[in-house]
Amino acid sequence: MLQLAWLTDLHLNFLTESQIIAFLEQVNAHPADAVVISGDLTDSTHLEHTLTLFHHHIQKPVYFVCGNHDYYNASIEAIRATIPAWIMPLSNLTWLTKSEVIEIAPNTALIGHDGWADGRFGDFENSTMMLNDYFLIEELSYIFPEERLEKLHALGDECAAHFQAHLPTALDQYPHVIVVTHVPPFREACVHGDQISDEDALPHFASRAPGEVLCAMAERYPDRRITVLCGHTHSPCDLMILPNLRVIAGHAVYSEPKIQHPVLELT
Ligand SMILES: [Fe+2]
Ligand SMILES: [Fe+2]
Repeated sequence: MLQLAWLTDLHLNFLTESQIIAFLEQVNAHPADAVVISGDLTDSTHLEHTLTLFHHHIQKPVYFVCGNHDYYNASIEAIRATIPAWIMPLSNLTWLTKSEVIEIAPNTALIGHDGWADGRFGDFENSTMMLNDYFLIEELSYIFPEERLEKLHALGDECAAHFQAHLPTALDQYPHVIVVTHVPPFREACVHGDQISDEDALPHFASRAPGEVLCAMAERYPDRRITVLCGHTHSPCDLMILPNLRVIAGHAVYSEPKIQHPVLELT
């Protein structure tokens, strides 16, 4: 039985280099066969170096997607264009956003995409919430809300298109598919404390378009299982959206990176 260690919302830019290395060595010592990360590793200025540290200190495959914080102080387009070159020499690292279907166990495939809160849940129009995204990410900063909403829709749609393109291939071949994405793709999985986020927060913390694809695929393949791993809210939840569609959101605290529970066992 293979084991997958799941990390999310590490925000390693809040740690010193020696603290980061100590954490990575702890991950490396874990019996898991591979590591998966559902975004917010650090911020854009530290991303390349952080990925290099993962390469040097973890001697097992590391599959990751980026979160919104990974693009802070930069442009999404520029960083996305650069990540493939950064990780080319880092042989154990795979950015799922630019990958197709990956077999991680004989009966289990992995796909993933950064994803983005797409503004389609909750009440974007009347939301007073201003994430740092809207000041620190080039494409989203200092623009009118209507234009920002269009960009959020496009970012969510990009994730949905990735799932639409690759999930059928995965589900045709594997009984179980793990989907990694930063933002909860279902309203019910977008939790704050112990409640579903309110109408003010939902536009910025959940992503509707990818979730619609996931539900449609789960219904189209009733004898297959899909497990979604996400983060972003820092509030944990583990629930069944459909009988064969499970979503798990990770728990995170700034400056306290950890391996999430459950450690996934793969057949
Ligand atoms: Fe986060
Ligand atoms: Fe995030």
